[in-house]
Amino acid sequence: MANGKTVLVTGGAGYVGSHTVVELLEQNYNVISIDNLVNAYADSPTEKPESLKRIEKLTGKSITSYNIDIRCKDNLDKVFKTHKIDYVIHFAALKSVGESCAKPLQYYQNNISGSCVLFEVMSENNVKKLVFSSSATVYGTPQKLPLDENHPTGQGCTNPYGKTKFFVEEIMKDLCSSDSEWSAISLRYFNPVGAHESGLIGEDPSGIPNNLMPFIAQVAVGRRAKLSVYGSDYDTIDGTGVRDYIHVNDLAIGHVRALDKFCDNNFKGFKPYNLGTGKGLSVLQMVEAFKKASGKDIPYEIVDRRPGDIASCYADASLALKELNWSATKDVNAMCKDTWNWQSKNPNGYQTKTAN
Ligand SMILES: NC(=O)c1ccc[n+]([C@@H]2O[C@H](COP(=O)([O-])OP(=O)(O)OC[C@H]3O[C@@H](n4cnc5c(N)ncnc54)[C@H](O)[C@@H]3O)[C@@H](O)[C@H]2O)c1
Repeated sequence: MANGKTVLVTGGAGYVGSHTVVELLEQNYNVISIDNLVNAYADSPTEKPESLKRIEKLTGKSITSYNIDIRCKDNLDKVFKTHKIDYVIHFAALKSVGESCAKPLQYYQNNISGSCVLFEVMSENNVKKLVFSSSATVYGTPQKLPLDENHPTGQGCTNPYGKTKFFVEEIMKDLCSSDSEWSAISLRYFNPVGAHESGLIGEDPSGIPNNLMPFIAQVAVGRRAKLSVYGSDYDTIDGTGVRDYIHVNDLAIGHVRALDKFCDNNFKGFKPYNLGTGKGLSVLQMVEAFKKASGKDIPYEIVDRRPGDIASCYADASLALKELNWSATKDVNAMCKDTWNWQSKNPNGYQTKTAN
């Protein structure tokens, strides 16, 4: 759809944000990115983030980018006053479960206060259409599988990170009830993995990765000696945890489909959608798939379960198919192949000079 509408993307230089920016540019949206670089790389604090530079090369299109913090109301307001913004996609957040337990205030401050400032500035500038990056963590411990959008949320959220996603969803609901001009879609991601097939952009976690796929990829490329597998006595196919992995490009397309929904004049208020494949894969199944895609050995050791981890989690994504015309198309082989392409071309992430 050729549209020329303008989307403000918070956290646009990050992993899911950058892949969504590619998709938006390909669908002829104008993109403005805001990112404070807390988890994104730039050569200097005043330069465009490296991920966005690479996207400009990849797409031949330009991105307006501000290295600012969403919590700074004045700076944010200036962006809204400078550009005519149609929609906001809100990715900016801190996202480490473990870190959130150690530094809860930092997470509440960044993720909840930051969202409140953003929503306030949006309201004041009459921009009232929002897509939010939520997470399957809002469901807490599954009462039944697969998880559908009617599953209770907020019960048994075991860590501050998950609670921030739940609270922000509640704030969005209240905002939509208070003002009928607001429409807000919350996309509850399952486990995003993979990278753009060009190998130019991908996931670049700082420090020890929290998530399985970047950990496996760093072992394959020789950055880490072995993978720790947390628990092998769960009630699953092989005893290791089962999750619903989704290719980040499928996820990116889901955001564009969510924006399409705003063209439907009957669409009002708050609505959540699951974005997952609907299929669960165990840790050891992922290790096998990655070995096949990379041709590398992945040494691993079984260690204790992590507190708060659950045996299995996977989505019922049928609502997104019905109402957003979206479903995941890429399988585990594509997820592993594209991750390996990115990791092997960029063994040290965006700081790898040879990737250009
Ligand atoms: N990757 C996952 O496994 C996953 C799963 C479910 C939900 N999510 C959510 O999706 C969103 C994107 O995740 P991601 O994996 O791309 O993370 P990411 O860390 O790669 O991207 C987030 C970006 O937001 C920026 N940011 C953080 N706080 C900011 C602030 N106050 N002001 C401006 N910029 C700020 C960071 O610098 C980073 O570039 C997050 O909200 C995350 O919670 C991610």
